Amino acid sequence: MTNIALIGFGAVGQSLAETIRDKHDWLKDHFGLDAKLVAITGRSKGSIYDLEGLDLQTLLDVFQETGNLEGYPQGIKGLSSMETITDTNAEIIVEATITNIKTGEPTLSYVKAALSRGKHVVTSNKGPAALAYKELQELALKNGVQFRIESTVLSGTPAINFATENLAGHKITSVKGIINGTTNYILTEMEKGTSYTDALREAQRLGYAEADPTADVEGWDAVAKIMILGNVVLGGSLKSKDVERTGITNITMEDVEKAKSEGKRIKLIAEAYMENNVVKAKVAPTWLPLSDPLASVNGTLNAITVMTDGLEEVTVIGGGAGGLGTAHGLLSDIIAIHRH
Ligand code: HSE
Repeated sequence: MTNIALIGFGAVGQSLAETIRDKHDWLKDHFGLDAKLVAITGRSKGSIYDLEGLDLQTLLDVFQETGNLEGYPQGIKGLSSMETITDTNAEIIVEATITNIKTGEPTLSYVKAALSRGKHVVTSNKGPAALAYKELQELALKNGVQFRIESTVLSGTPAINFATENLAGHKITSVKGIINGTTNYILTEMEKGTSYTDALREAQRLGYAEADPTADVEGWDAVAKIMILGNVVLGGSLKSKDVERTGITNITMEDVEKAKSEGKRIKLIAEAYMENNVVKAKVAPTWLPLSDPLASVNGTLNAITVMTDGLEEVTVIGGGAGGLGTAHGLLSDIIAIHRH
């Protein structure tokens, strides 16, 4: 049995609970993984802990009816997120709270507390991964556990493990791509004639945008993700101030039309690359010719192109935002921990 505590019960956390409910038996048959959610906490949604494991159907029904976890008929209620990490029998802490790109808190403290106590951490939160990946990896190693961040970039589409594990043995010299679903959706919709405001509203309604969508449209979310790629895949030491950043707020309908008339498409491109043996990164709207593979990555799709010495360019395209995809990125990390 693998005991899991889930910190954060927004779209991603709820999707993970549903996925574990739906795939539990299949996961057990295919991977020998008997995944048990023992505790869940959610900002303003209460908390619930049952060391024997939560009945997810009952829990999700109660949550749907009341909007709160504490109507669950048994177990311990009222633990804080930190207490859930330190005082429960969870072996894996799955962290899916809202990203704080500036300080990484409170998630950074949660991750440190979990790793220090010998608990594995899986997170979709970009803050700690972007700001403190090396430190957290060292802490995980020291405590004989894993810190896994697959879903922070491209949600459930392989990106981190694709570059670090599947492409192991290649020298990777750059990573570039479309790594924010909200802005890609807005730019795609603008080309169809939808206004920027309407397209952003729809991206929010669909659950793709960050809690504060300024993080998407001003490029901060892409900055966090390219820092993760630059630091984890290329071994850099990027801080957010090192990343040149331009968002899409100044892109007008006229710009989109002009690009179209020139056989181009505007995309928010993020890139991490080596310059004089130092990892650099930038995020900027870029006019791509339609012949560029990234020009055909539309809607909420994301893509990264990795430049390798063994295969030259390798590109992965797939969903990059939304609850279900991100939950599957988290699940792939849980399976990886179980396998190791
Ligand atoms: N707001 C992000 C996006 C969510 O639009 O890509 C996934 O990190």
